[in-house]
Amino acid sequence: MNRGFSTFRTLQRKITSNTLKSKQKNASSNEWLSRQLSDPYVEKAKQMNYRCRSAFKLVEINNKYQFLKPGQVVIDVGAAPGSWSQVIANKINSNGQDQNAPKGIAVAIDKQQIYPIDGVTIFGNMDFTKPENQEKITHFLEGKRANAVVSDMAPSASGIRHLDNDIIIELCYNVLRFAVKVSEQNASILVKLWQCGETKQLENDIARFYKNVKLVKPDSSRSDSAEIFLLGMDFKGLKEN
Ligand SMILES: C[S@@+](CC[C@H](N)C(=O)[O-])C[C@H]1O[C@@H](n2cnc3c(N)ncnc32)[C@H](O)[C@@H]1O
Repeated sequence: MNRGFSTFRTLQRKITSNTLKSKQKNASSNEWLSRQLSDPYVEKAKQMNYRCRSAFKLVEINNKYQFLKPGQVVIDVGAAPGSWSQVIANKINSNGQDQNAPKGIAVAIDKQQIYPIDGVTIFGNMDFTKPENQEKITHFLEGKRANAVVSDMAPSASGIRHLDNDIIIELCYNVLRFAVKVSEQNASILVKLWQCGETKQLENDIARFYKNVKLVKPDSSRSDSAEIFLLGMDFKGLKEN
């Protein structure tokens, strides 16, 4: 009898907590929907056939610093769904849209699947942090060096700020180590991170390899987001022994 009662109470508690969770979920998806509907970049992305609004962050940064040019070799890390790669393919002319400009090479890698993009070689369903996947990219490039390595990689947020910051910083260092290995002299690096205690250290570490480092917050990056970008330009190159 008692058992039956406690089972009923447990079930009741479960239902109440599930209802609460689903209310919270509904509230946050309503919030997401109304933000999407009032966001001019979402509409603009649709009009310009970009896969998502993130495209404008790269467009803005590149408009200001002009580091993407026709004929370059560019590696886009954490590229899904692919809007940065769409911008890159146009800027470096890897899609051959400008017949009078040199044709670049664009490579995109992501843990998730990336649907084909004209002028972009895709490494989908691959974790960038795995050395064997980085090797696949260098193997594909057959000794050609990169002019830019860009990363918009972000871990799925756990909600524990310190942990999430540590993970994204480690992803940035992964990109930095890779970029230093594969880049041409004067190349660029662009990494996304969340503003945190380690930002300055990362900026200093990028400055060990790149002459010119900028901390950038594009207008299209939501003001309520801690996301920022570090852009390193003029790679110093590695001294050969
Ligand atoms: C904000 S999205 C990138 C959006 C992309 N720049 C665009 O414009 O379409 C972040 C991406 O980072 C990817 N990512 C996170 N960790 C990764 C890892 N270790 N290796 C490869 N991709 C990763 C996620 O799968 C996700 O697709």
